[in-house]
Amino acid sequence: MQVPLLDLKLQYQTLREQVRVEVDQIMDSQVFIGGPKVEAFERAVCEYTGAAHAIGVTSGSDALLIALMALGIKAGDAVITTPYTFFATAGSIARVGAASVFIDIDPQSYNISTSALRSYLESCKKNAQGQVVSHAGQVIRAIMPVHLYGLCCAMDEILELAGQYGLPVIEDSAQALGSQYPSKNGAVSAGAMGDFGCYSFFPSKNLGAFGDAGMVVCKDAKMAEKLRALRNHGGEQRYYHKMIGGNFRLDALQAAVLAIKLPHLDSWSAKRRVNAELYRKGFAAAGLCSTLTLPTQPYAASGLPNHHIFNQFVVRAPRRDELCAYLSESQIGNAIYYPLPLHLQECFACLGYKQGDFPEAERAAKETIALPIFPELTPEQIQAVVDAIAAFYR
Ligand SMILES: Cc1ncc(COP(=O)(O)O)c(C=O)c1O
Repeated sequence: MQVPLLDLKLQYQTLREQVRVEVDQIMDSQVFIGGPKVEAFERAVCEYTGAAHAIGVTSGSDALLIALMALGIKAGDAVITTPYTFFATAGSIARVGAASVFIDIDPQSYNISTSALRSYLESCKKNAQGQVVSHAGQVIRAIMPVHLYGLCCAMDEILELAGQYGLPVIEDSAQALGSQYPSKNGAVSAGAMGDFGCYSFFPSKNLGAFGDAGMVVCKDAKMAEKLRALRNHGGEQRYYHKMIGGNFRLDALQAAVLAIKLPHLDSWSAKRRVNAELYRKGFAAAGLCSTLTLPTQPYAASGLPNHHIFNQFVVRAPRRDELCAYLSESQIGNAIYYPLPLHLQECFACLGYKQGDFPEAERAAKETIALPIFPELTPEQIQAVVDAIAAFYR
């Protein structure tokens, strides 16, 4: 049986009529950039996440970029993040001229290790202004944790450290819109915990647009105003520019599609969790539980429905590369997120990292494989994936 990694056509079939009506309305109105559709979607995201302000932008990458710009982060500064993430996380830091300071990941969650983060911060000196200085001598200006694969980082610890060291937090929530975290103050939503939260609506995300789209949310009203200006070339008043921004505007067609999809997001994420459970049962029945390491669900006992939203279902597997080749030959979709950690990327050689600096990120890059998890996957397809993996290890 053929099993794709992702099939977006199935979801579209259920929304086709509604989408076409909206698209027609926008065509008739000829309002394509910003406007009521974008504003309505921004309000819907605030309501859904509990964030105070939402600013629709062109992509998740630009959401990260514009948050860094709003903080005035620039050349000579550094931002702490994880080396095991999609390129855009550290790419956005480099785009404002700053350096990434990488911290290794926790091997279970694949998210930034809070004990490694604490040790690093404790090892840093402070400058005369009381700012934390990286080992390479840059001023550390922010922490950018990534809620990888739809699982929130250990945010209580991260926010506590951020508070202690006076660092704003930009949550890279590109893969985690809707993911919930049981904080010491109760349930909170990915992106709404730090000073900024950045979402991607790339089509393969749990909430996907019909192209590129993104959003940045924030707590502070002044920052929200600044972000709105920055997404429009830095101008608050037309043709007058106090600062330099860019064209980071979300268009009405994407906002309208996303607004139609948002009410379905929780049920789609629930289906992803059902699929994860079917894998768990299937691998147990096939005797593969000691061979594969399945995703951890550290917040499951909290009772929060969206304790994990499985943007990806990633397992550790022995002989990973051979398994990938075998699955591809058997027409079972799979992918490697991510084969080369960011500290070893050619373009970041200037940061001075080397092989062995982040052993857990390097091990994850060699050992993990993502399996199909999209909501419309059938139990038969999941069994076919399990059977193919069982046949490989037989
Ligand atoms: C962790 C992470 N950060 C940032 C991004 C960038 O989002 P976009 O592709 O919308 O620019 C992505 C998207 O793939 C991502 O997964």
